[in-house]
Amino acid sequence: MTASRRTQRLSANAAGIAAAADLLRAGRLVALPTETVYGLAADASDDRAVASIYAAKERPSFNPLISHLPDLDAARRQGLFDAPALALARAFWPGPLTLVVPASGGCTVCGLARAGLDSVALRVPSHPVAHAVLQAAGRPIAAPSANRSGRVSPTRAEHVLADLDGRIDAVLDAGPTAVGVESSIVACLGGAPRLLRPGGVPRAALEAAIGQPLAIVADGGAAPIAPGLLASHYAPRAAVRLDAEAPGPGEAWLGFGPEPHDGVLPALAVNLSPTGDLTEAAANLFAALRRLDDRGPATIAVAPIPMRGLGEAINDRLRRAAAPR
Ligand code: TXA
Ligand code: MG
Repeated sequence: MTASRRTQRLSANAAGIAAAADLLRAGRLVALPTETVYGLAADASDDRAVASIYAAKERPSFNPLISHLPDLDAARRQGLFDAPALALARAFWPGPLTLVVPASGGCTVCGLARAGLDSVALRVPSHPVAHAVLQAAGRPIAAPSANRSGRVSPTRAEHVLADLDGRIDAVLDAGPTAVGVESSIVACLGGAPRLLRPGGVPRAALEAAIGQPLAIVADGGAAPIAPGLLASHYAPRAAVRLDAEAPGPGEAWLGFGPEPHDGVLPALAVNLSPTGDLTEAAANLFAALRRLDDRGPATIAVAPIPMRGLGEAINDRLRRAAAPR
């Protein structure tokens, strides 16, 4: 909001955690580490605090936000869990899963954070620093990824500061995040659960927990139920060319797996995982895109990424990065 605010850098120790919780209780903005990406956190029950998230991010205001809680009991005070929602929460919380459920009668997540919807998006993160802050804050904490709208999601405190320095009150620095892609989002709103966003929990694991296949809600459909899933959400400045067999002249290269070793790689090249490990690739994805994009190439060519495991989430992010804008 105000570009003149000084952004404090807090360490991930008891004093830093207490300071972050105090700022959140006072309606201020703090970037917090989670196991997926850094989140731009504010008191989810305070519309003004939530408004300042949208302002700092310059995010389209129709996007509902995820509210973070320290445990399932706290989440069940905010939302109504049917049998599949409970099964998923018990299997994957704390962890990189968000559940969209009907808001409870006593839900304290404000209307702005819910974008006026009757449902609420809830997540219990597993990062110990996030957990400690949530416990100390004692209220639901809204946190979209801590980047400016349309930029890649931050997996390090430095990425947060590159986008938001001077626009937020503090960043709590706990080093690089482990998962590297956002949480999977599953809507449990009666009827069959639907996968709104592939993410840190592979689809097969989600389906195993509920004993049925998940319907996938395609983004950009006629009646999008996750309006935040804009086609251009993950957008580097460079154009992105997917499923490239090799870089073309002048293109930067984002590789995956063993590279052809005949000298074709350009100077500007990053490999997501030379051994072809999809978990390593997910953890590296946003930092790699950012590293290439910061050097200003016109186009980033991207090697094919298999669709198994976290590959589905990686390909989802890459398709967004490549979407025309
Ligand atoms: O890993 C993550 O999920 C990260 C970390 C910080 O927790 N957070 C994150 O939040 O990615 P955000 O705000 O960037 O993503 C929220 C997504 C949006 O696509 C939004 O449209 C969807 O969740 N969403 C939120 N509430 C919803 C609702 N009630 N119905 C449908 N979709 C909803
Ligand atoms: Mg985001």
